[in-house]
Amino acid sequence: MKLSIHPNYDAMSRAAAQCFAQQILKKPDSTLCLATGKTPLGLYQNLVDMFQKGIISFSKTRCFHLDEYLELSFDDPRGFFNTLNQVLFSKVDVQTDRLYRLFDTKRMIEEACLDYEQMIQQYEIDLLLLGIGVNGHIAFNEPGSSWESQTRLVSLSQTTRDRASAEFNPDPVPIQALTMGIKSILRAKKILVLSNGKEKAGIISESFFGPIDVQIPASILQLHPDVNLIVDEPAASVIQEKMEKHNAIKL
Ligand code: PGA
Repeated sequence: MKLSIHPNYDAMSRAAAQCFAQQILKKPDSTLCLATGKTPLGLYQNLVDMFQKGIISFSKTRCFHLDEYLELSFDDPRGFFNTLNQVLFSKVDVQTDRLYRLFDTKRMIEEACLDYEQMIQQYEIDLLLLGIGVNGHIAFNEPGSSWESQTRLVSLSQTTRDRASAEFNPDPVPIQALTMGIKSILRAKKILVLSNGKEKAGIISESFFGPIDVQIPASILQLHPDVNLIVDEPAASVIQEKMEKHNAIKL
């Protein structure tokens, strides 16, 4: 794992955008897999800026996304695909027939998940972006998810639903979601993990510097051969404290 610690959110977002730009410049027809949530918004803004300056083009890329709430209407702005459309897809030159949407209507859920999983395997994700939940979830793989899990229907944990409640207020947060599985995520050739803020400091330390534990889904990333962990200083604070203690003992 490569770890880089940046002084603040903006610097972290720029570093993550550089990583995406390098991938797209090296392989213009890269298959990307994108995350939603608050963490990557700065990264997406940087990618839009780079596109507008003519530095990168998404015209040949394919884009998947990690997960989606169940039972939202097709155009609900709180849906993850629609969020990505608003912050990135609609602002760059990605071709709509190269966007892959995880969605539950029209087809049976199982069939939709299987199709999505087959597409992921067919196109092979070159670069996959992950945020990490405060409970260690990756995508919507909540604590206890099987390492062998593939794209499927899941129930959301109370922690995850509580954290989304402001966004859905006054509506209830969906109880279920569709998500790429842990095995589907680990198939990506390169994984970029992005995390910021003090509230993530504990889980970042546990995930990457503790035992691999099914109750901390992100901890399995320790076994992936190409993970780039990009964080800001507050998110790295527990790791840094541990390193300081370790060095003090050695001295
Ligand atoms: P956040 O979500 O970026 O909004 O913190 C991350 C996650 O839950 O995966």
